[in-house]
Amino acid sequence: MRKNYIPFGKPNIGNQEIQFVSKIIRSKWIGSGPITEEFERKFKKYKKSKYALSVNSCTAALHLSLIYCGIRYNDEVITTPMTFASTINSIILTGAKPVLADIDPNTFNIDPGEIEKKITKKTKAILIVHFAGLPCDMEKILKITKKYKLKLIEDCAHAIESKYNNRHVGNFGDAGCFSFYSTKNLTTAEGGMVVCNNKKISQKIRVARLHGLSKDAWKRYLPESVKNKKKFEHYDVTEIGMKYNMIDINAAMGLIQLGKLESSWKKRKKIFDLYKKKLSHLPIKTQNFTNKNIRHAYHLFLVIIDKNKTKKNRDDLMLFLKKNNIGCGVNYRTVTDMSIFKKKLGWNDKTCKNSKYLGDNTVSLPLYPDLKIKDLNFICEKVQQFFKI
Ligand SMILES: Cc1ncc(COP(=O)(O)O)c(C=O)c1O
Repeated sequence: MRKNYIPFGKPNIGNQEIQFVSKIIRSKWIGSGPITEEFERKFKKYKKSKYALSVNSCTAALHLSLIYCGIRYNDEVITTPMTFASTINSIILTGAKPVLADIDPNTFNIDPGEIEKKITKKTKAILIVHFAGLPCDMEKILKITKKYKLKLIEDCAHAIESKYNNRHVGNFGDAGCFSFYSTKNLTTAEGGMVVCNNKKISQKIRVARLHGLSKDAWKRYLPESVKNKKKFEHYDVTEIGMKYNMIDINAAMGLIQLGKLESSWKKRKKIFDLYKKKLSHLPIKTQNFTNKNIRHAYHLFLVIIDKNKTKKNRDDLMLFLKKNNIGCGVNYRTVTDMSIFKKKLGWNDKTCKNSKYLGDNTVSLPLYPDLKIKDLNFICEKVQQFFKI
């Protein structure tokens, strides 16, 4: 039995982050401020987007994007069943109804053919997820949004580095939403970002993320706010806002993480490719992508038990790995399995069969830049052993 636990996720944080965050904590300003703005500037430059609005989670980014894309009570938003609960929750929180279109069983991304079947008079938007970092079929999806005049929101929680036809994901629709949660490719502990190319949407989100206070509210605390002014200017409340802003402590981490993004991507790609090679002979499937014009973000490596080839099951594999001190996760059980959605929306095992199969049979293996090759070899040995016993 090995002594050290191999965690499922491990943020790539070093001294640079610790020093910069400490500097910000010691400074006179720890809330939303200049560091948050600098992070936004650098993030939008990386993503080649016109606007970037930092927030405190991807969930906040999704909620604001839906609201300012005009989604309202009784509208329908088509989305994928293979996602985290917050994709669905954010739709419900606008008062709209999430409508599921099943996934493609090869890519695990929403199937454009299924989207078209679900369009009704009430459909206002499509909310896609670039699952595990693999871009969705944007050509087909954009044809649909154009044909039916639908808004498009991209959940890019897994896909910071992903590109489709050399274009960064997040820029294809009306808004792109990113997560900087602890296990994500870039982390600020908790955090998120909306990128968009529409001035009006960006202005609304900028205000609504912080109580609806008039523009750049944080600047009123600084001496510069009264420079060259004869009269004191009070703030106004111009939107029904939320408390979704990012703060400088988190943004400081983000700035350092952004500098490491591409080198971390290369390391994860190497690990992803090694897993694929070493496990290829087993009765499993992995995410299958052949399109040469995409860039995968390598956020997750999924092993899917192939029920046509083995009687082994997913939960036993997870138990076996954990007993061998190997962390693993499920990304995700299909949202149609979750009791609140079953109760409120009437979803069941037959709603999306491909997603149900994936959700019942998938395990995610550790994938992060400093996973040691000897640990990767150990993980692969144990997965192989599981299928032999
Ligand atoms: C696909 C997807 N969307 C949204 C989220 C929510 O992200 P956050 O925790 O930053 O709100 C997650 C989180 O894991 C996710 O995987």
